[in-house]
Amino acid sequence: MKVLIACEESQEVCKAFRELGHEAFSCDILPCSGGHPEWHIQDDVLKHLNDGWDLMIAHPPCTFLSKAGTRWLYPKGKLNQDRYEKAIKGKEFFMKLFNANIKFIAVENPISNKIFDMPKESQRIQPYEFGHPIKKTTLLWLRNLPKLKATNIIKERIIYIDKKGIKHTGLNGWSAKRKSKTFSGIAKAMAKQWGNIEIKSNEEKKE
Ligand SMILES: C[S@@+](CC[C@H](N)C(=O)[O-])C[C@H]1O[C@@H](n2cnc3c(N)ncnc32)[C@H](O)[C@@H]1O
Repeated sequence: MKVLIACEESQEVCKAFRELGHEAFSCDILPCSGGHPEWHIQDDVLKHLNDGWDLMIAHPPCTFLSKAGTRWLYPKGKLNQDRYEKAIKGKEFFMKLFNANIKFIAVENPISNKIFDMPKESQRIQPYEFGHPIKKTTLLWLRNLPKLKATNIIKERIIYIDKKGIKHTGLNGWSAKRKSKTFSGIAKAMAKQWGNIEIKSNEEKKE
């Protein structure tokens, strides 16, 4: 399959698809940090949506749209116009990816602020459903793809216990870049469950 991983510099998902023999490319305005520049397109992804992809998985920026950023959207109860306009541009970018002319599409983002009226997601997933002891609600918007199935549910969701003995399951203390990197368990599940989607649907037609 020809697979585009849009807005990905870590190459986590790209490498998971490559491991299964797919012709996958990451695309980001930043250089890649995943060690495979030969599989990376460093450019604005909007210029590459019509390059003949079978499947696109997109991770557009969420900084201005996310619910977690609400306190900066309304500092002292007043709307920050600059952040609001950036969020509207973020939504336009998200919609261009979701409406791209590619048969199979998955777009990933966290929960957004209601004010931006994002389309309803197809499903919500958690890293702890894919082998990581971490809670981070992640939304997926899917086009022609089945919901991603949990592969390894971790019941004990602890990242670390602090000096006071308090167990932390969130991502406090992680850098923004580390937080935005796709978890390897999720990347592997995407490659395994969506990498053979075309083969599966062709087989179903034959039956
Ligand atoms: C939320 S991060 C996703 C990171 C990704 N999960 C990973 O593991 O690398 C959003 C990414 O979108 C990239 N980006 C922003 N605008 C872009 C554009 N027009 N074309 C391609 N990438 C873009 C940013 O550089 C950033 O790396």
